[in-house]
Amino acid sequence: PLIFVLNGPNLNLLGTRQPEIYGSETLDDLEALCAETADALDLAIDFRQSNIEGELISWVQEARSVAAGIIINPAGYSHTSIALMDALLASDLPVVEVHLSNIHRRESFRHLSYVSKAAQGVICGLGPHGYALALRGIAGILAQAEQ
Ligand code: DQA
Repeated sequence: PLIFVLNGPNLNLLGTRQPEIYGSETLDDLEALCAETADALDLAIDFRQSNIEGELISWVQEARSVAAGIIINPAGYSHTSIALMDALLASDLPVVEVHLSNIHRRESFRHLSYVSKAAQGVICGLGPHGYALALRGIAGILAQAEQ
């Protein structure tokens, strides 16, 4: 099964962007970790990043016809985008939301994620490892759905 792993705005700057919050690993490192984890779980991934809200929405719409699940770190759009939430709700796919940082420990404007309303599970605060856990979570959801 193919899983879309979607990353929102500013995540292209990982490694240099506030490393005290987001760590020193780059987006490429994150992609490599996801590819390795997916391989071990017999999943394929399509790993993408965009700074553009509409592009993320179009990718979610695309996933409907080609993917078995979506992992998404919506970054700043988590806290603002009803449109991205709506796209995920319309996808009818299992969705796992990931944040590198623990959004609940940070400023109060980060405590609400609209995207969480469309997510089966949410992982935050575990850095890149959260993406590996999200892939495991999706694999578990798909295995259960097959039974
Ligand atoms: C983030 C948390 C968001 O609040 C923030 O806007 C980001 C990254 C995270 O991965 O911790 O850009 O989604």
